[in-house]
Amino acid sequence: MTSTSIPSRDRLIVALDVPSVAHAEAMIARLGSSVTFYKIGYQLAYAGGFPLVRALADAGKQVFLDLKMHDIGNTVARGVESVANLGATFLTVHAYPQTMQAAVEARAGSQLKILAVTVLTSYDDADLHAAGYRLGVRDLVKARAEQAKAIGVDGLVCSAEEAANLRSIAGSQMSLVTPGIRPAGSAVGDQKRVMTPARAIAAGADYLVVGRPVMAAADPKAAAEAIVAEIEQAKS
Ligand code: C5P
Repeated sequence: MTSTSIPSRDRLIVALDVPSVAHAEAMIARLGSSVTFYKIGYQLAYAGGFPLVRALADAGKQVFLDLKMHDIGNTVARGVESVANLGATFLTVHAYPQTMQAAVEARAGSQLKILAVTVLTSYDDADLHAAGYRLGVRDLVKARAEQAKAIGVDGLVCSAEEAANLRSIAGSQMSLVTPGIRPAGSAVGDQKRVMTPARAIAAGADYLVVGRPVMAAADPKAAAEAIVAEIEQAKS
């Protein structure tokens, strides 16, 4: 699905970065119909959050399970099948060829889409060198994006800055999903490279992952609505 055919509201993914299911449920109730897509990561998933994936899917919401899987192919494949049965829409894997291949094969026939994480945004060239890599961030992101495309991965997680460059590799079929979004005037926190929702959409992002600007807002529902309005305005 190309971004032009996705309703603006469905392009906002709110990161449920909270310590318990009770916290998550309270926020989901507060956000109500303003948010249709949620991301569940390590913190909530490992605090009993997996049943929430099915509950949200049954309630008509979409779920991005940010598990960044990476293991031998068989283990990845079986894990992906289990995630598909939970009713999730997106699942992240690290962008290693074997891992991506196993994940793409295992999601066949389900509604699940695989997103590849090319290089973690906390890594710079020195970190990659220390981990034994020959390539720097820029070249490794490009190489892995090309491999993801060749393997048939459904989308990439990338910074909004990378989105413009990656679109030429990804084409119109792959989704670009970008965290590091900060509406004008909101706190940057620990994010190093941030963009406003409007600029990220203009740079080619299909989906925006937003955590604290919604979750920590005095009025989370109003914050979500403001971002949806900004997405709507940016695409016209
Ligand atoms: O609160 P904030 O908007 O910074 O949250 C962004 C979310 O996106 C968090 O769940 C974070 O783990 C996730 N993320 C990120 N940068 C990446 C990949 C995921 O910030 N490169």
